[in-house]
Amino acid sequence: MCGIIGIVSLRESKKLAEMTVSALKRLEYRGYDSVGVASISSNGLEIRKAKGKVEEVVLQKKIEEMEGYVFLGHTRWATHGPPTDYNAHPHTDCNGNIAIVHNGTIKNYKELREELESLGHKFKSETDTEVIPHLIEEFMKRGMDPFQAFKSAIKSLEGSYAVLAVINGERRIFFAKKDNPLIIGLGEGQNFIASDIPAFLPYTKRILVIRDDELGFVTPETVYLEDKDGNVVNIKERIRIVDWDIETASKEGYPHFMIKEIHESPRAVKDTIDSLMSDIDLVEKVIEEIKNAERVIVIGAGTSYHAGLYFSIELNRLGINSLPIIASEYYNVRSKKGDLVFAISQSGETIDVLQGIRMMRNSGAKIISLTNVIESAIARESDYKIYMRAGPEIGVAATKTFTTQLASILFILSVLKKENLKKMEKAPDIVRDTISQVEGLTKKIGEELAKKSNIYYLGRGLSLPLAMEGALKIKEIAYVHAEAYPAGESKHGPISLVEKGFPVVIINDGELTELLQNNLMEMKARGAKIYAISVNKKMKDADVEIELQSEIPALSIAPVIQLIAYYAAVTKGYDPDKPRNLAKTVTVE
Ligand code: F6R
Repeated sequence: MCGIIGIVSLRESKKLAEMTVSALKRLEYRGYDSVGVASISSNGLEIRKAKGKVEEVVLQKKIEEMEGYVFLGHTRWATHGPPTDYNAHPHTDCNGNIAIVHNGTIKNYKELREELESLGHKFKSETDTEVIPHLIEEFMKRGMDPFQAFKSAIKSLEGSYAVLAVINGERRIFFAKKDNPLIIGLGEGQNFIASDIPAFLPYTKRILVIRDDELGFVTPETVYLEDKDGNVVNIKERIRIVDWDIETASKEGYPHFMIKEIHESPRAVKDTIDSLMSDIDLVEKVIEEIKNAERVIVIGAGTSYHAGLYFSIELNRLGINSLPIIASEYYNVRSKKGDLVFAISQSGETIDVLQGIRMMRNSGAKIISLTNVIESAIARESDYKIYMRAGPEIGVAATKTFTTQLASILFILSVLKKENLKKMEKAPDIVRDTISQVEGLTKKIGEELAKKSNIYYLGRGLSLPLAMEGALKIKEIAYVHAEAYPAGESKHGPISLVEKGFPVVIINDGELTELLQNNLMEMKARGAKIYAISVNKKMKDADVEIELQSEIPALSIAPVIQLIAYYAAVTKGYDPDKPRNLAKTVTVE
């Protein structure tokens, strides 16, 4: 949930400080409560860090003036210890010769800290991370060389980590990974290592994805990598070239990534459908597995859960036994051989999903994953890997990735139902046309909803997961309390809150319009202000209605709910790309 970057170069220069800062800006979506940088130059190891966003800390601490041939950077999303200057990374040993940045959680840090304190180590922060530099220091004191000491420190840790370590005087960055992403970028006379590819994408497209339990070190010209059994890994076979560039990961004139990414949805859907079409054998194999399974467990978190719920409802309607699971509640399921798990995760790194699939795989279930990140942890642990082709999503709130999740699911369902795939070929145009039609009205609705304190989002059948997604989106970025209900359930309690002017958004995908109409009237009779998002069938008596015609209603509704949330957030002056307390990739349980 933090962003980390390391750069090691043949040359000592201030340019590296600027590169570290620009990498941190591109990693800021992973966490943004404190920032820090370490550098090693001919003058030794220096650390500058503080609470605050990248831009603030960089100015305040004059980070761009730092010099060196090795740099580490960190942008934090607090887990252990509140966001403070002291808790900001990098963390050091007693003498300030070792610096560490870490993404993850060290479960046994209390025991380790007590032990180290009893040996005389003095701690400066409340973080779990600080045990790592002290462990390295302790092992070096006992005569180990730096790499041995680093390895021994990592062996002592329980939990999850992507760790980078530098030691004064060494022109190398030590690294280790377990359950948190870490990718090496191979440059010319300089190498990079980071939580995510955009961090170093302006400098190189040659990458090496580090796998769980691997560790090693990077020098300006080489990478030394060991697997979990201590065998040296031949990295040549693992080097890949990424086929997107930094333009894809920049705002391109839009005021925020979120709105840019909503507008990219047609392209993202097109690339996803094209890729599924070209890998139809995989889709067919997946469908065989679905048909042969005793039960299809669909698992995901947040937005991905909503896409999963949509899928699960459809599977059940087709007579396929399916159970939708909120990933963090995975332990409630007794999975068994014969179960098939369909895991949905944009990042492919969400720990709740990962733990869920691990548990279910151990009881004999097969795993299919749908992710947006090639070689991500969830993809690697799956029997069948399906990829969306949304490209990098920088806005913290999922937008184009939700729409491509839906497109992927709808494609699979279409093949399963033996439908003509011509309809799915129209999907990108359907999304594009919707966006161009609704921009004005979604802005108006967003501006109105921004003034409210509570909203209900109601849906029925397949429009329920979309209502849930609409409520989540406006809640997380515009900080308006919004709750989604199955529309028919609203009269069993929630309706008692409704009074004059209470906003109710009804998601009407055209399937159960008559039933929804009853719920609309019940709400209206209590004074509610009704905003309807209607596809193919109009509602009666809505106060404001977005009316759409669409062959694929879900793909029209997805951008509408996202745009409403976006405009509500912007109206209130919030940055929709960086909602408070959230992080893009949630790698803590
Ligand atoms: C909401 C949002 C989150 C994620 C959730 C799962 O806009 O982005 O709810 O959907 O954290 O993330 P992934 O899909 O990466 O597993």
